[in-house]
Amino acid sequence: MGSTSQPMRAIAAEVLLAVEGGQSLSQCLPPALNRLALNERPALQALCYGTSRWFHRLEGELSGRLKKPLRKPDRVVHHLMLVALFQLRFSQQASYAVLNETVEACRALDKPHLTGLVNGVLRAAEREGAPEPADDPARFSHPMWMVEKLRHNWPDNWQRILEANNAQAPMTLRVNALRFSREQYLALLAEAGIEASPTRFAPHGIQLASPVPVDRLPWFADGAASVQDEAAQLCTTLLDLAPGQRVLDACAAPGGKTCAILESRADLSDVVAIDESAARLPRVQENLDRLDLTASLLQADAAATEQWWDGTPFDRILLDVPCSASGVIRRHPDIKLLRRESDIVPLAAIQLGLLDAMWSILKPGGRLVYATCSVFPQENHRIIQRFRKQQENAILVEPAVPWGLDMGAGRQLLPDANSHDGFFYAVLEKPEP
Ligand SMILES: C[S@@+](CC[C@H](N)C(=O)[O-])C[C@H]1O[C@@H](n2cnc3c(N)ncnc32)[C@H](O)[C@@H]1O
Repeated sequence: MGSTSQPMRAIAAEVLLAVEGGQSLSQCLPPALNRLALNERPALQALCYGTSRWFHRLEGELSGRLKKPLRKPDRVVHHLMLVALFQLRFSQQASYAVLNETVEACRALDKPHLTGLVNGVLRAAEREGAPEPADDPARFSHPMWMVEKLRHNWPDNWQRILEANNAQAPMTLRVNALRFSREQYLALLAEAGIEASPTRFAPHGIQLASPVPVDRLPWFADGAASVQDEAAQLCTTLLDLAPGQRVLDACAAPGGKTCAILESRADLSDVVAIDESAARLPRVQENLDRLDLTASLLQADAAATEQWWDGTPFDRILLDVPCSASGVIRRHPDIKLLRRESDIVPLAAIQLGLLDAMWSILKPGGRLVYATCSVFPQENHRIIQRFRKQQENAILVEPAVPWGLDMGAGRQLLPDANSHDGFFYAVLEKPEP
């Protein structure tokens, strides 16, 4: 990336170029944010998230306005124009400012030969307004394969899923039950002037009317609450935790569910949290520290049990597998650019492998909760069905819960524009011998 004196929209264009090259926003945005003053950072974040969210719509418009694609070395200017179109179509920013600043940014990116093109394209876009989307990727602002897959998997719900994916997710909290009741924390929020309401299904969840920086949340630094979607919080209600249990969180980073487990019962015997990623595991410790909780952390491939397991089986295992993240696209719109259809089959193989391995270290009479933040059946109830073909003794528990769709082998939450993310849960028990 270029010098620190670059205009924000030029930095946004470089971030989007990096996403196109395969980096996630959570990888490439933090260093870009560091190049700006604190008060400018939220605006850069909004540009990068917003342009990613509407990428396929904006791409449809831009490709219609360009006579031919830009040369590869000039690709950053393509992204610069997408950022500008995002502002013209989806922000309150005055269009003359968008035009002037974009042309200036084009110069700052050392592409003075393209200022005429940028100016012409954006002037026409301003004058003519947004075109009717020409195809499904533009209409729904998703890649074609996702539109097709969702239409195929969810013939009655696919449009609602696509719309929810394009919405801004609410900010949801999990109150630390060891410190405050939900009612007490709602009262503290009201005192702080933060409008909020209890979540419908998660017992410790609170949804804010609008997002606020976490440092405005009462006692946040002291561990009073965490930011966590309502669907993710539901894991604890399914684990059926009891005193003295030995619990494994097999894919733990950044630790949201590990902490939810520990907060829900202070009397567990021990909680082991594993993650294969050395980069992500420290996040678990940071969250534990802030909440004043204790777990044993291990960096390992959970499936390679011979490398880390001490031979004592677990009463409870949470298996929150790596997945397409197709249920959390509204929080991570870069998934639309990063994920490929060809990722799903290898992911399903990893998921089934992890489930097999975790089953082998579950105590007879013990319970395993399988979770994904995906809406693709291939990663969800079909994994459970495939697993039960191999493990015919595995008992499928059907939890009596008021949420989600019964898939016959687990429950599916579809993303809801006004509340929770898309998630899947299945509960399995191992019979006593
Ligand atoms: C869906 S995320 C977990 C989110 C976490 N449970 C939470 O609620 O904060 C999946 C995690 O699995 C980890 N992972 C992927 N393959 C793994 C493996 N074979 N063993 C352990 N962890 C793995 C990834 O590094 C990633 O952090």
